[in-house]
Amino acid sequence: MRLSIIGGGVMGEAIIAGVLTQQLTSAEAITVSDTSPQRRALLSQKYGVLTTSNNREALANGDIIILAIKPQTLPQVMAELKGLAQPQQVILSIVAGATIATLEASLGHHLLVRVMPNTPAQIGEGMSVWTSTQDVEEEHKAAVRSILGALGREIYVPEESYIDMATAVSASGPAYIFLLIEALIDAAVHIGMPRDMAEVCVLQMILGSARFALSLGQHPAQLRNMVTSPGGTTTEGLLRLEEGGFRALLIQAVIAAYEKALSLGGER
Ligand SMILES: NC(=O)c1ccc[n+]([C@@H]2O[C@H](COP(=O)([O-])OP(=O)(O)OC[C@H]3O[C@@H](n4cnc5c(N)ncnc54)[C@H](OP(=O)(O)O)[C@@H]3O)[C@@H](O)[C@H]2O)c1
Repeated sequence: MRLSIIGGGVMGEAIIAGVLTQQLTSAEAITVSDTSPQRRALLSQKYGVLTTSNNREALANGDIIILAIKPQTLPQVMAELKGLAQPQQVILSIVAGATIATLEASLGHHLLVRVMPNTPAQIGEGMSVWTSTQDVEEEHKAAVRSILGALGREIYVPEESYIDMATAVSASGPAYIFLLIEALIDAAVHIGMPRDMAEVCVLQMILGSARFALSLGQHPAQLRNMVTSPGGTTTEGLLRLEEGGFRALLIQAVIAAYEKALSLGGER
């Protein structure tokens, strides 16, 4: 599989690292184009991939071409590449907010994949939700699945509307969790715990809780009941969270992010 990545930034590098670690292809079969000479030098030295400043050259080199530039750069890059992809090439975009319809019209190409990854993809613990145009064949879907699998977990969805939902849940979600982490650390410090100890306690608790939930596969309410003894400490804390509207607030946050995702994609 020949892979081209347009935009060798944070996510572009995460893809290179994941694909090479999983040995999905060789470094010589990866071409990265980037405007920054520093990024090109770093990626070529660190991973042995081919680099170029020419996006058209990168396009020509790949079976799968990944667009990993910022949303504001996308229109310019699509204009540069319009009509140049060969019929069998697949163009995959991880650009937030760029719909399949926009990609199709602006690139003049029909084999398209749209992915919504998230930040933990940088350490192989990502969640990518993706869809494709109907013309993308099973062989190419399998290749995309393996690339995204190298970044963490992936879910294929048959309808693009789920991508906007994933934007509000799994893509924005790390920010909600980081806010929760920060607040819990502040709370621990507030009651007298040293900050370094608080950081370890909170991060390991969140990691362990997610792994425990995945491992047991039970409803979260059952897991919560396991921690909540009658008349104990946890139930006091939970009461304050319910009084403060914690659950409703999270639901409202996700709805607000979802509506914003729809408006960015021109769907509202
Ligand atoms: N980071 C995440 O966790 C995350 C999560 C979900 C989705 N995404 C999506 O992933 C995409 C990439 O994000 P990122 O965080 O990897 O961005 P990034 O680190 O800024 O990477 C973009 C790279 O593209 C280069 N570039 C700029 N203009 C270019 C052009 N015309 N042709 C080729 N390369 C060009 C940039 O160089 P300069 O820096 O010199 O401009 C930079 O190295 C975004 O669209 C974002 O929506 C990211």
